[in-house]
Amino acid sequence: MKCVVIHGSPRRGNTWNVLTLIKEEIRKNLDIEFIDIELRKENLPICIGCFNCIYKGEDKCPHKDIMSEIVKEIKEAEALIITSPVYSMQISGLLKNFIDHMSYNFHRPSLFTKKALIITTTAGAGHKDAANYVRSVLNYWGFNHVQTLPIAYRSRELTEKNKIKVLEGGKKFSEELKSKKIHKPSLKSVVMFNLWKAMSKEKYEEGSADYDYWHSEDMSKGVFSPQVPIGILKKLMGTIIYGLMNK
Ligand SMILES: Cc1cc2nc3c(=O)[nH]c(=O)nc-3n(C[C@H](O)[C@H](O)[C@H](O)COP(=O)(O)O)c2cc1C
Repeated sequence: MKCVVIHGSPRRGNTWNVLTLIKEEIRKNLDIEFIDIELRKENLPICIGCFNCIYKGEDKCPHKDIMSEIVKEIKEAEALIITSPVYSMQISGLLKNFIDHMSYNFHRPSLFTKKALIITTTAGAGHKDAANYVRSVLNYWGFNHVQTLPIAYRSRELTEKNKIKVLEGGKKFSEELKSKKIHKPSLKSVVMFNLWKAMSKEKYEEGSADYDYWHSEDMSKGVFSPQVPIGILKKLMGTIIYGLMNK
């Protein structure tokens, strides 16, 4: 099994220590290959807000040479670990810049079978908010399962209590990956899927990235990705939302 790691700290410090510990724990439970991507080494320029990825397609991003390599790895892997220290009560600018380059995934979610673990560390506060923010982003991108591990690193060394928390988090994530289970989507995911789908027909012209994506074989038919099982009630909700939006 492949797992991509996006390390969002500009150094190998507290967050890297937690990551190293959790990788060791996951390795004990699973046959897994980690593909480490340290964002500081990628030298990804700041997102210039050109809207190319959203309107024309991600292949038109001025930084596509760097981004396409990373996205290729994510697409080929079953799992993703994203890490960040807390800076000014939120994720690092390094990670935010990467997320900004992935913004087209809000319009065209596609990572429906992927599972993720988010690690955040802080000296005092903000770790839960930062982890929840990244979880929300990944849910919008389509992720099937997202686990968070916010750690308050209040002393030089990782405390015994936090060490146990990290190891338990590693076990839990390993079990999730081992299960190979594809979870049913939340109601919010179904609603968002159908809002974007309806909007793409209304707002975008043929030939635009969103229009073409939502008119593709897989996306045009159902109320959610065909890769994911969905219950009858949510199916009905999706159909109603899509119908209302189209009116
Ligand atoms: C620029 C900067 C901003 C920070 N902002 C906060 C903050 O808002 N709240 C907090 O509790 N800790 C803050 N910290 C402390 C880090 O979140 C904490 O030390 C973290 O574990 C560092 O991770 P790293 O060693 O992987 O870089 C900040 C550190 C830096 C360098």
